[in-house]
Amino acid sequence: MEHLSIDTIKTWERFYRANFINCLSGFKSANLIGTVNKDGQPNLAVFSSVVHLGSDPALIGFINRPLAAAPHTINNIETTGVYTINHINPSFVEKAHQTSAKYPVDVNEFEAVELTEQYIDNFIAPFVAESNLKYALKLVEIVPIKHNNTFLVIGEITDIIVAKEWITTDGFINIDKAESMACLGLDTYYTATPIAKFGYAKATK
Ligand SMILES: Cc1cc2nc3c(=O)[nH]c(=O)nc-3n(C[C@H](O)[C@H](O)[C@H](O)COP(=O)(O)O)c2cc1C
Repeated sequence: MEHLSIDTIKTWERFYRANFINCLSGFKSANLIGTVNKDGQPNLAVFSSVVHLGSDPALIGFINRPLAAAPHTINNIETTGVYTINHINPSFVEKAHQTSAKYPVDVNEFEAVELTEQYIDNFIAPFVAESNLKYALKLVEIVPIKHNNTFLVIGEITDIIVAKEWITTDGFINIDKAESMACLGLDTYYTATPIAKFGYAKATK
């Protein structure tokens, strides 16, 4: 095994270093976030830093890069207060990945990559019709992380679209059956295989 110090890593080429560090936090969920701007122009982009923050209220967070690098999603969320998170499936993973390109603000990524907008009543942000598991959120708070100019965007879930057959009697969602994907770094995507399911662990001593 190699022992690498952060001083060594800091000497590495920027993209090599970013890929390497990005892998250390492990597999992440692969998602598309759908938004609209104030004129109703849709936007779609890949986000993997999605994290569960609590079940009641049902809060989900994600990290948005600095504004200069990824401005559209966060600006739209700030303006409209709503967005959707859509799990990525193998049938459209290549199109999903393409949404991470820096499209100009007036380009609708749904059209650019040929994915389908889907809307529900009384909610202006678009879902991805092709996605097997997706949910709508209303903005709760945007927390700036001063140390690296990123943002923790916190939303409360308002609606969920999922097939009943994937929900088990205890409320668990078999997201592997829904073909939800994981990703690692900024370019590699995985499907998941369940290995074990355990009961609620109790202290034995
Ligand atoms: C696999 C993958 C995961 C990504 N995860 C994030 C993320 O969690 N946060 C983020 O700000 N950008 C992430 N990106 C980059 C955004 O997709 C990219 O910056 C995009 O252009 C942002 O678009 P926007 O300006 O329309 O919001 C990721 C890209 C890829 C390929």
